[in-house]
Amino acid sequence: MQIQDAQLLNQGRAVALTFDTGQRARFHALWLRDNAMDPATRAPGNGQRLITIGDIPADTHIAKASLQADGLAVTFAPEGKDLVFPAAWLAGQSYDRSEDARQPGWLAAPVETWDASHQDQLHSADLPRLQADPEALKSWLAAVARDGVAKVGDGPIESGALLQVAGLFGYVRETNYGRWFEVRTEVNPSNLAYTGLGLQAHTDNPYRDPVPTLQILYCLENSADGGDSLVVDGFAVAQRLRDEDPQGFALLAKYCARFEYAGSQGVRLQARRPMIELAPDGELIGIRFNNRSTAPITDVPFDEMEAYYAAYRRFAEIVDDPSMAMAFKLEPGQSFIVDNTRVLHARKGYSGSGSRWLQGCYADKDGLLSTLAALEHELEAAA
Ligand code: FE2
Repeated sequence: MQIQDAQLLNQGRAVALTFDTGQRARFHALWLRDNAMDPATRAPGNGQRLITIGDIPADTHIAKASLQADGLAVTFAPEGKDLVFPAAWLAGQSYDRSEDARQPGWLAAPVETWDASHQDQLHSADLPRLQADPEALKSWLAAVARDGVAKVGDGPIESGALLQVAGLFGYVRETNYGRWFEVRTEVNPSNLAYTGLGLQAHTDNPYRDPVPTLQILYCLENSADGGDSLVVDGFAVAQRLRDEDPQGFALLAKYCARFEYAGSQGVRLQARRPMIELAPDGELIGIRFNNRSTAPITDVPFDEMEAYYAAYRRFAEIVDDPSMAMAFKLEPGQSFIVDNTRVLHARKGYSGSGSRWLQGCYADKDGLLSTLAALEHELEAAA
């Protein structure tokens, strides 16, 4: 990659570049100075920045810019500092675009939404392979980043084996439920607490802040009839609501719901967050949906509460629509992971003889994405 032309703009406050690919990009002098990669600006070992914004003169401008073989040489005033920026690096960092025209609820790469028709493409890999083969692990982690869900097979049928799934990429997040928790229901119709009734699709623990961002559910026994697991892409649900009813979508994103859990002694977890969470630029970043732990919602003004409830109802109807869900029955030694900020999970009802025993744990997505990025970097370097 080469730069063909560089023109100073606004007395050197910015520079306009034209690359040999035809791409054009403007960069501000302040931005370039702040992102310099020389050893006085960035520590050579860990790459961390050694200067603060206050160390850069507010009147920084480019005194001189000239083209080199594969980069841009810049002299910054008033510091009198000479730096070179690689052309390929500049092309990859371009921020030269006009006002954000994206629709609220847009999704950042690599997220791709799905519905029931995706069933056959649900990514699955065996645990021993994931532990031994970095390429297989990379594909599996990439599937979690893209789809928010993936399966694992051929794991040990022993208590605590789910920790090996978390260990593929990071660390378990321990909570008041322990390092992991039991999802065990003997089929026993005389005991109403353990009737095996289905659960509406939900995200876990919306009453925590921050919410656990990954959940692993690992099967140890599943001989009961039914009890299938079901997953729904909450981002697909939110976008469908947006396309049907933009005002309803906006209400669920604008106002915070409230969630709480006080089901055991010494625990009173509470969170105030919207059911649909958007970044300030409208990116869809989170779903919290759980009928069992939604507290009285008191942050919606009286005049908007009926419309809010209509949107909440419609969101739930879309969640319950079978065309949105992928379903599967876990066998002992199989597990699945969900992005708990996005993908809702559910259990179908079950009956008859037999038993169902799953173990669950939480982990965090930043560790998973970090492991994925590091693997991509290493495997690319080795290729
Ligand atoms: Fe759950």
